Amino acid sequence: MPIDAPIDLRSDTLTKPTDGMRAAMASAEVGDDVYGEDPTVSALQERVAALFGHEAALFTPTGSLANLLAVRSLVVPGQEVLCESSAHIARAELGAHGAYGGVTMRTWTHPRGQVDLPAISAMYAPDMGPFFVRTAAVSVENTHNFAGGAVLPLADLEALRSWTASLGVAVHLDGARIWNAHVATGTPLAAYGAQADVLSVCFSKGLGAPVGSMLVGSAAAVAEARVARKRLGAGMRQVGILAAGAAYALDHHVERLADDHEHARILAQACGVDPRAVATNIVVIERPDAAAFVAAARDRGVLVSAVGPRTVRLVTHLGVSRGDTQRAAEVLTQLFGG
Ligand SMILES: Cc1ncc(COP(=O)(O)O)c(C=O)c1O
Repeated sequence: MPIDAPIDLRSDTLTKPTDGMRAAMASAEVGDDVYGEDPTVSALQERVAALFGHEAALFTPTGSLANLLAVRSLVVPGQEVLCESSAHIARAELGAHGAYGGVTMRTWTHPRGQVDLPAISAMYAPDMGPFFVRTAAVSVENTHNFAGGAVLPLADLEALRSWTASLGVAVHLDGARIWNAHVATGTPLAAYGAQADVLSVCFSKGLGAPVGSMLVGSAAAVAEARVARKRLGAGMRQVGILAAGAAYALDHHVERLADDHEHARILAQACGVDPRAVATNIVVIERPDAAAFVAAARDRGVLVSAVGPRTVRLVTHLGVSRGDTQRAAEVLTQLFGG
């Protein structure tokens, strides 16, 4: 099937700002944010902190930096964070938490990236002086990227929260796509916020902003993270231009995530995956040769990515319309021999 412009399902980070978003960015009121004088950034930080029921928030250029600052605020060098083995912090942040945070990590494995409380509690290590690394925090990812956009049920997060609280262990929530979980389940953002000491959230994924993430937590954690952000060279000046894009995304692009979820289910069906297994905007499929599948799809005008030798990922987003979805579904059906 000849297709002019490729349909890009590699990631929801590939979106380009809409005209409305560009206009909001162009007219943003700005100031020097290292001085705390950018009104657009300050307003966005206050807005997002309130959405999650926390005291404060800090704008960062990337989700990786928000995660680094968040974990670092909970785990001091020489302590550990526990997380699922395909968590973004473990797999895709290039060792930042060890390299810059002095943090060690142990992992549990769950095929759907879920909270496995029995496994976590079996791994937990209390402070044993000079003998063992102490568990200072547990990190969870909602939705879970490499587990196919899986949502973590609120009840599981609540159970984790009460178990960790009883031991004085902190919780970090990587909420790069928490908006997708919120729209898919109707769970209020504040209910998710209550399950973690510190969260990181992104505007640059499904929400469609070009740049921007945020760490959300207590006033003390955010004040410390502000210093660490500057130390790492990420204190930004008239960054309200970017915050305006993120604010526009919050105003206009949250509810529409339901369309992305529906599109993902259409693509799943075309790939022979039960659409009921697709919770949000990511479809993960197993192929004997992921690279060959990616190449065959590309030749037919559909871009998908290999996230492992036998694993292919498709992600729907703002830049993929219903028509694009239907065209991509036809190509995928052909590739699956349908
Ligand atoms: C779950 C998750 N956390 C964090 C990040 C990091 O975000 P960034 O690419 O902005 O560093 C990503 C990126 O895709 C992600 O999927």
